[in-house]
Amino acid sequence: MSFDNLFQPLAFARGPQMKNRFMLAPLTNKQSRPDGVLTEDEIHWLSLRAKGGFGLVMTAAAHVQAVGKGFEGQLGVFGDQHLPGLARMAERLRAHGAVCAVQLHHAGNRSPAELVGQPVSASDDPQTGARGLSLDEVEALRDDFIAAAVRAERAGFDGVEIHGAHGYIITQFLSAELNRREDRYGGPLENRTRLLFEIIDGVRAAAGPNFQLGLRITPERFGIELAEAVAMTRRLLAGGQLDYLDLSLWDVFKEPAEEAFQGRTLMSYFTELDRGRTRIGAAGKVMTPDQAAAVISAGCDYVSLGRAAILHHDYPDRLRRDDRFRPVATPVAREHLAAEGLSPGFVEYMKSFSGFVAEHVAAE
Ligand SMILES: Cc1cc2nc3c(=O)[nH]c(=O)nc-3n(C[C@H](O)[C@H](O)[C@H](O)COP(=O)(O)O)c2cc1C
Repeated sequence: MSFDNLFQPLAFARGPQMKNRFMLAPLTNKQSRPDGVLTEDEIHWLSLRAKGGFGLVMTAAAHVQAVGKGFEGQLGVFGDQHLPGLARMAERLRAHGAVCAVQLHHAGNRSPAELVGQPVSASDDPQTGARGLSLDEVEALRDDFIAAAVRAERAGFDGVEIHGAHGYIITQFLSAELNRREDRYGGPLENRTRLLFEIIDGVRAAAGPNFQLGLRITPERFGIELAEAVAMTRRLLAGGQLDYLDLSLWDVFKEPAEEAFQGRTLMSYFTELDRGRTRIGAAGKVMTPDQAAAVISAGCDYVSLGRAAILHHDYPDRLRRDDRFRPVATPVAREHLAAEGLSPGFVEYMKSFSGFVAEHVAAE
């Protein structure tokens, strides 16, 4: 198989182009300080990926409000105290020729109470104990996403990606199950998508004309029907405000869960839409170069690598030098991950992903 399609540059409607089609997927790594300030461990692990040839390097999910913190050791972007660390990070990533972006996140009802006290969500949620936001608070949430984007721009990042996936707060607003609001942010799809569209419009209005804006979505589950996700995406693409749409599929070649839509890949429902100048990419179980190239052949503009990029910081460069390159099989020894730039705490976190870290392997 030829891998030429992975090494074509990719231009966006705004901002710098990617030198190839490899995006580093956002990867929470729990290496920030308790106040969300970056550590050298986090900068080291990410700048190695920039050095290793990823065309665009995305940070881990960074919370835009203290109450939206989802993980211990999570990166923060909710205050100016985060600026110096982010600025150092942006400088290091760009020095290696990578386009760089901060992923903007708020965990909503998925914030652990031990980290935030009572979590918040679109509506009261008896299952998690989350409290529904007042109308003023929804507007403040929107404004804090926008302020975080501006902060990322001030720090020197090329863009941001709104985390609209995986059941976090944007998804909680989109969800017909979790969002039971009776104001303009709840009810019909147009209202449930209002928060997202207002954030997008607000970032566009507040940031410079070359600032890149991406959005990550999970097109099914979490109370979102595929038909609704497609309708929302059609509107997003037609609006032309996004530079890229990142499909988080967990398996890029899976079929939809909803029976009525089966018989073709979930991804194809999105790649077939008229995308205008918005780029589309996907993440999910892409390990081998053949799989990465197949994502491009299937109609994506770029491919996002998560676990494969944890295994090899220089996956793109290795493949460019040697088309016989294949990633190491998992599980891998802790020593392998340490050599790939993961701190002991990050390696520990990776143990929660089954079959990734070997328990008793001394060396490879
Ligand atoms: C350790 C780890 C941390 C992750 N953190 C995030 C995150 O911060 N934001 C996000 O949108 N997805 C996150 N994900 C999902 C990945 O970005 C990616 O979509 C997923 O792992 C599937 O791709 P892969 O099979 O190439 O790993 C995480 C995944 C892993 C394994």
